[in-house]
Amino acid sequence: MMGNRILVTGATGKTGSRVTARLQEKGIEVKIGSRKAVPSFDWNDPSGWKAVLARVSKVYIAYQPDLAVPGAVDTMRGFINEAKKSGVAQLVLLSGRGEKEAQEAEELVMQSGLAFTIVRAAWFFQNFSESFFLDNVLAGEAALPLGDVKEPFVDADDIADVVVAALTDDRHHGKVYELSGPDLLSFPEAFEIIAHASGRRIQYLRISNGEYNAAMAQMQVPADYQWLVNYLFTEVLDGRNESLTDGVQQALGRKPKSFKEWAGVTAATGIWAAVAGGEQQ
Ligand SMILES: NC(=O)c1ccc[n+]([C@@H]2O[C@H](COP(=O)([O-])OP(=O)(O)OC[C@H]3O[C@@H](n4cnc5c(N)ncnc54)[C@H](OP(=O)(O)O)[C@@H]3O)[C@@H](O)[C@H]2O)c1
Repeated sequence: MMGNRILVTGATGKTGSRVTARLQEKGIEVKIGSRKAVPSFDWNDPSGWKAVLARVSKVYIAYQPDLAVPGAVDTMRGFINEAKKSGVAQLVLLSGRGEKEAQEAEELVMQSGLAFTIVRAAWFFQNFSESFFLDNVLAGEAALPLGDVKEPFVDADDIADVVVAALTDDRHHGKVYELSGPDLLSFPEAFEIIAHASGRRIQYLRISNGEYNAAMAQMQVPADYQWLVNYLFTEVLDGRNESLTDGVQQALGRKPKSFKEWAGVTAATGIWAAVAGGEQQ
């Protein structure tokens, strides 16, 4: 039976939670795609997909952990087939900018025969406030194998605005939007802006890839996650993304938010005020 729900995968994550909130504000029925939801949605358990896709007409796909990981394309193929069988009419796919491996999954979506929009995003601002770099901010130290390379970080709120536009307005069908923020920033520069906004001291240390890998091994980071971090740090962040794009302007007719403005607003929420071994200035 066809329905009119929108399934949001990664619904408890950085973009999915924002997409969910915006859709619900519009009165649209959202199916929460989460391992904790009932029925549960797990990319690694196809047996549960049919129940989650019941009465769903559109899907926002925020794959975990990344479309570039080995096996992602097969999983995506299986999921798209199940979605088609279930009567889904539209897919909006979140992809990573500069990840040529992810483009095979993008192709599957584009060739699915369903209406589609591809949202190919730069690194999120929220990696520093809701994800792995938050620990660095709170610890007052970031030891990373990243030097001068610049990334055009983008706001997850801007991404969510584009995704919701794509899910609710047919004019975005068939489009591939490359989303970046308005500034190219190195990682030391990004931490410096957060240090300034939050009043925290954050020491940035450039270490080698070997040292970073050894640290991950010592912390018993799972091997597949180590592979992904290595891929992101050595391939995606090799300078290929050192350019700005106008995807937010194209999709929404407005400029993307700047990292500096976002850091000011985020500091005011108190998220960087916690003490986790880091010194206050
Ligand atoms: N972070 C970035 O800078 C960035 C940049 C460009 C593209 N992307 C892409 O964005 C996507 C999301 O990445 P993210 O880093 O922002 O993570 P995220 O969406 O914040 O990740 C957490 C979400 O993933 C869900 N999840 C985790 N494992 C799952 C599984 N096995 N099955 C189903 N859901 C699962 C979690 O749900 P539950 O725990 O509730 O199940 C949660 O909703 C990835 O495809 C990534 O490549 C990220």
